[in-house]
Amino acid sequence: MYKIVKKKILSQAVKLFEVSAPLIAKKAQAGQFIILRLDEKGERIPLTIADFNREDGTITLVFMEVGETTTQLGKMEEGDEILNLAGPLGNPSEIKDYGTVVCVGGGVGVAPVYPIAKALKEAGNKVISIIGARCEELLILKEEMQEISDELHVATDDGSVGHHGFVSDILQKLIDEGREINQVITIGPVIMMKVVSGVTKPYGIKTIVSLNPIMVDGTGMCGGCRVTVGNETKFACVDGPEFDGHLVDFDNLMKRNTRFTEKESCAMENYKKKCQ
Ligand code: FES
Repeated sequence: MYKIVKKKILSQAVKLFEVSAPLIAKKAQAGQFIILRLDEKGERIPLTIADFNREDGTITLVFMEVGETTTQLGKMEEGDEILNLAGPLGNPSEIKDYGTVVCVGGGVGVAPVYPIAKALKEAGNKVISIIGARCEELLILKEEMQEISDELHVATDDGSVGHHGFVSDILQKLIDEGREINQVITIGPVIMMKVVSGVTKPYGIKTIVSLNPIMVDGTGMCGGCRVTVGNETKFACVDGPEFDGHLVDFDNLMKRNTRFTEKESCAMENYKKKCQ
């Protein structure tokens, strides 16, 4: 059992939990994830490790309430316990001194960008961060990102804060200004990662995306997290979660991510009825 030691509400539907998991905290590295299960019959969901504290033995999870399990999780409080946590899973991000790295996070994707940006900064890179959300209220971890970035840009779809538009517009502007960019890392909605990768491709700027497809076992056996990268089949849980954004078949990923939409909304409806 894994105790929730801290709960913070980051925005309307986005929650941050610090969970006591000493063995995972000891080994965790930026870019890795865990799979959790709330109870014996619960579904298994992957969540990126947004931060870790080896001394306190805690890991930080940030998630958006989008389905039954994340809604159930969001209702848990400090002191409550999660039944299973498996991890750290996946390959860590490749952290080295690239020169100037642009870290682009969208929505709840800002959370997994944070530890990577922090590690890149510690490795000596100049870190330019671009974070975005639909509106100011949904923008998360702005102060934290500010602290570890040399430069921070903000974009919102409705213009309530920062640039009125998309994170990709800011990246395009930086490129147009002739800024030196050695690498881009982007995490967020699949469509955003597709657009960001499309912006950098003509300039040959290496772009890393972190994929979060539907997962079951997290160990490469079920095939649930299958993605196509450079015309090859890869499993995000063991081959990723990070891949070269210029090689990912995003359209296929978007299609695969919606294959349980109907079942997911039924489960949510039933859960709501149960809670009434
Ligand atoms: S989650 Fe089963 S193969 Fe990746």
